Amino acid sequence: MTQVNAPEFVRHPKLIAWVEEIAKLTKPAKIEWCDGSAEEYQRLIDLMIANGTMQQLNQEKHPGSYLANSDPSDVARVEDRTYICSENQEDAGATNNWVAPAEMRAKLNGLFDGAMEGRTMYVVPFSMGPLGSHIAHIGIELTDSPYVAVSMTKMARMGKAVYDVLGTDGEFIPCVHTVAAPLKDGQKDVAWPCNNEKYIVHYPETREIWSYGSGYGGNALLGKKCLALRIASAMGREQGWLAEHMLILGVTNPQGEKHYIAAAFPSACGKTNFAMLIPPAGYEGWKIETVGDDIAWIKPGEDGRLYAINPEAGFFGVAPGTNTKTNPNCMATLTKDVIYTNVAVTDNGEIWWEGLSKEVPANLTNWKGQPHVEGEKAAHPNARFTVSAGQCPSIDADWENPAGVPISAFIFGGRRADTVPLVSEAFDWVDGVYKAATMGSETTAAAVGQQGIVRRDPFAMLPFAGYNMADYFGHWLQLGQEVGAKAEAAGNKLPKIFNVNWFRRDAEGNFVWPGFGQNMRVLEWIIDRCEGRAEATETPIGYVPTYEQLNWTGIDFSKEQFNTVTAQDKDQWIKELESHTELFTKLGDRLPQALKDRQNELLAAVKSA
Ligand code: OXD
Ligand code: MN
Repeated sequence: MTQVNAPEFVRHPKLIAWVEEIAKLTKPAKIEWCDGSAEEYQRLIDLMIANGTMQQLNQEKHPGSYLANSDPSDVARVEDRTYICSENQEDAGATNNWVAPAEMRAKLNGLFDGAMEGRTMYVVPFSMGPLGSHIAHIGIELTDSPYVAVSMTKMARMGKAVYDVLGTDGEFIPCVHTVAAPLKDGQKDVAWPCNNEKYIVHYPETREIWSYGSGYGGNALLGKKCLALRIASAMGREQGWLAEHMLILGVTNPQGEKHYIAAAFPSACGKTNFAMLIPPAGYEGWKIETVGDDIAWIKPGEDGRLYAINPEAGFFGVAPGTNTKTNPNCMATLTKDVIYTNVAVTDNGEIWWEGLSKEVPANLTNWKGQPHVEGEKAAHPNARFTVSAGQCPSIDADWENPAGVPISAFIFGGRRADTVPLVSEAFDWVDGVYKAATMGSETTAAAVGQQGIVRRDPFAMLPFAGYNMADYFGHWLQLGQEVGAKAEAAGNKLPKIFNVNWFRRDAEGNFVWPGFGQNMRVLEWIIDRCEGRAEATETPIGYVPTYEQLNWTGIDFSKEQFNTVTAQDKDQWIKELESHTELFTKLGDRLPQALKDRQNELLAAVKSA
């Protein structure tokens, strides 16, 4: 059997025994205990360059940056292969795939048997949340992918110091990952090993993660979607907090008043751009700062306010569409030390993706490593960059504050060509929960499957809730009640809840709202509503601004355009509200009555308007 040989800095007998157990099952040729050092990082990068997994980019243009191209079959999260294996199927709920834990364990035991043969098993210690903070959770990922090991140094706090926090008996979440491509003696490796069969499995009760067959993103970097959302959401429900698919940003006005906002959007709907927004012309003196771009852990404080932290340490962002106009802060973040995946590269070693520049560079090699063909995508639509958050010029001074930042408002936003207006404010917490619960969005390339069809994506958490979605709604409702009462006693307020839609189209199918930095105008109204300073008009679906109530300094945006992005069509809304029944029926008996009542009330209000 492979020698485990735990280094001196690991003093946790249970952890060492578990590594032994997994090594016995998966049979790697070697075990390497990662320490997170710069030497280790470079050694693994060099190994991947030698293996053909990675290539070094032009070091003048992209110092310290590298490119990996995945197998064309392994390019996104695999939602249909993602399982929540709670003891009772009802606890996973109708929106999650479920197999009985015993049955899944038997299946995985067979699949993981010998799955790492011929490869090195890396022991990757990581903390989600600032190291040692009371709010953080530790995971240990055992993986046979050096790409995962190096990516984890950017996406989480990875390294030796994690073992100091764990000591001899600290708690950790065991995460086992294999690309499931064992190498027989003398067999030549491929550049991106993976397996056609894939399983991303979570056991919420025992808090374990097992991932088989994919080396890509959320399927393989197990701290992100698997731990920080699916397992953490189940923990949050037990312990009275929230793990959400939300960016967190701070907005400061010229008077120095600062608010933090948490915003949930489905994957590839602009969370990174919004989190790093630069205020447009007309907003001199305003500042946006970034706490996180994808995940928020939110805990109630004694003062009845909700405090959020970003558990991640890096950004794993969608590259296509990112440029100096759409997200200058992101482009500045990417000036060095980036791991790119599935972008295109010039013969001069410079990266490129659709939307980076108008002109397509000559002599481009596409994400499949072939000469780019005009009319085809040079970068995969879900091509990504992996980079440390600390490199972001707009990073907030409190982004690593273990106490978190106080949230003034929640924003929920889908990608909708019609029906949903630019912005609306919920009437109250229950109404906001209803709107978030029934949010619809057109599907994107972030997940395998058909793109552009509207699906219900409650709270942008459809692929990430680690337990029954109906119970998740109940948790939000209950938390609102408890925190609301505490807030009132302390003279504070629950965050207000807003819905936005940056993606409304006109009759010709064109986007009307300019988006990106211009979203600041909506943000200003939101802040002013939180402060009780802005007027709004009551409509059957919420409070909305009139054209005159938004600030148009520095932009030419006509009333007619405004009307297009804010129109509420009665028939569309009746259809929309009626279509929520499909989700509610699917969710079954555990759906809170308050949400069914809200549907009826909203329908009645829209019909009688
Ligand atoms: C992501 C996603 O990678 O949501 O953040 O898919
Ligand atoms: Mn995401």
